Amino acid sequence: MSETQTMSEAAPHVRIRAIGPGHLGQRVQIRGWLANKPGGKGRYFLWLRDGSGIIQAVAEQEKSSPEDWEAVESIGLESSIIVEGIVKAHPRNEGEFELDFAGIKVLQAVSDYPITKKEHGTEFLMKHRHLWLRGRRQSAILRIRAEVHKAWADFFYDRGFFRVDTPIFTPNACEGTTTLFEVDYHGDTVYLSQSGQLYNEADIGALGQVYCFGPTFRAEKSKTRRHLLEFWMLEMEAAFYDFDDNIRFQEEMIAFTVSRILERCSAELKELGRDPEKLRPATQTPYPRLRYGDAIELINKSRVAILMEQRGLSEEKALELLYSGKATFSDDTYDDDAEKTRKLEPFRWGDDFGAPDEAAISAQYDRPVFVSNFPTEIKGFYFKQDEEADGSLRVDPVFAALPDDMKLPGMSGHTVQGADCIGPEGAGEMIGGSQREDNFERLMENIEHHQLPLDFFQWYLDTRRYGNVPHSGFGIGMERFVAWVAGGSDTPVHIREVITFPRMLHQFEP
Ligand code: 4AD
Ligand code: MG
Repeated sequence: MSETQTMSEAAPHVRIRAIGPGHLGQRVQIRGWLANKPGGKGRYFLWLRDGSGIIQAVAEQEKSSPEDWEAVESIGLESSIIVEGIVKAHPRNEGEFELDFAGIKVLQAVSDYPITKKEHGTEFLMKHRHLWLRGRRQSAILRIRAEVHKAWADFFYDRGFFRVDTPIFTPNACEGTTTLFEVDYHGDTVYLSQSGQLYNEADIGALGQVYCFGPTFRAEKSKTRRHLLEFWMLEMEAAFYDFDDNIRFQEEMIAFTVSRILERCSAELKELGRDPEKLRPATQTPYPRLRYGDAIELINKSRVAILMEQRGLSEEKALELLYSGKATFSDDTYDDDAEKTRKLEPFRWGDDFGAPDEAAISAQYDRPVFVSNFPTEIKGFYFKQDEEADGSLRVDPVFAALPDDMKLPGMSGHTVQGADCIGPEGAGEMIGGSQREDNFERLMENIEHHQLPLDFFQWYLDTRRYGNVPHSGFGIGMERFVAWVAGGSDTPVHIREVITFPRMLHQFEP
């Protein structure tokens, strides 16, 4: 440790984020790292960062002791330092502050920090994720994520919800059997949790209204900018909530959270180059709603438009190509160039949305949109189905009117009381939720239909045997939500930037 300090005992340590007008003219101490050091020839601008923000200390040789000046000259990027200075208003940026350098103590002088100002490739940055995290953009995204954590906790607490924690080791699937990670459980096979929902449905029997928030695992071999193999999901479940209650709760929660971010993270949004005005519409509810059946035409129009644009075709030719079944297009949501070329066929009843379809839907609106009433066949076993007044299953009118070649085989036209919330600016699906099937016979049929092992579901079925009530819930992915809020279309944020140590396909280090 260097002995080059002109430190005063009295200067209080403050976090950069906490510096305000009350500190003007005061000598304060900043403990952190050197983020940059422009200048030279008798004057340096020391960019100090302490994790909470960044501030510049203006150091001048004339006004510094020789020991301090030597220290200032010696330190390179990411040296750990304690700096003291007098707080002043920033000369140009209204509402910001800077320091008149008054002293330094060097904890470790670094001269060979691997991440430099030159452009580094993604592979290099991911390999150095433990250091890349320190960057201005990366740390701003992580501060927004932390603020979202806090907003969600407050939102649920204020509404009388109890936080529960659901298991990670689970004996069975919740969201389809194809995306499970297997774990050897001392001779038994268990799976890493895909969702806490089934446990939440039991927990509401004890607590009425709950949410869980934890790591969630999906083994899909997807390489899009939206997929993590391990992500964090908040899942809400509430007794006596119907489909509408559920949607209203979700839109209020998003509006609340976005307002919080606008209020508390303006420095981060500015750092990222994210225009707050693009987020503002999402603070207003209600959000638009669209039925799956009505999305079909919209998506097919957008597919024709994609072919017109990417191939320079007339509308007529593009339509012809789309319905020929031979069309391909370039899908930019895939990271890997080799994967970008994808088939493009007409969207039929029973198809799931791809990223370009979600983008076409979200492009219609300036705030999140709910797409509801999906075909029963493409959703989980637990979704409550739409019924007629007499209790029979409803056939969607759009389905009934569609020609057969616009329906996938095996489709009944039945739909579910579930909705996905799709974020604006191409953010994609952020929430999946539904009212839950509370009709015992239908639930049993669904479990059978999905070929799930009935034995494992006996405990779950007890929730329907003893004090069955209408109930609903949803799950929101933290990383997808933050990628939208922090980046959107202004400065697209990749999902790997939203979590400290991302787990992606073939990527689990550091
Ligand atoms: O739509 P999903 O699969 O819904 C469920 O798991 C329900 N059991 C939730 C519930 O009703 N309790 O996932 C919910 C959300 C998605 O909308 C998305 O935001 C996120 O979780 N998500 C992912 N995020 C990152 N990487 C992945 N591989 C994700 N899969 C889902
Ligand atoms: Mg989903």
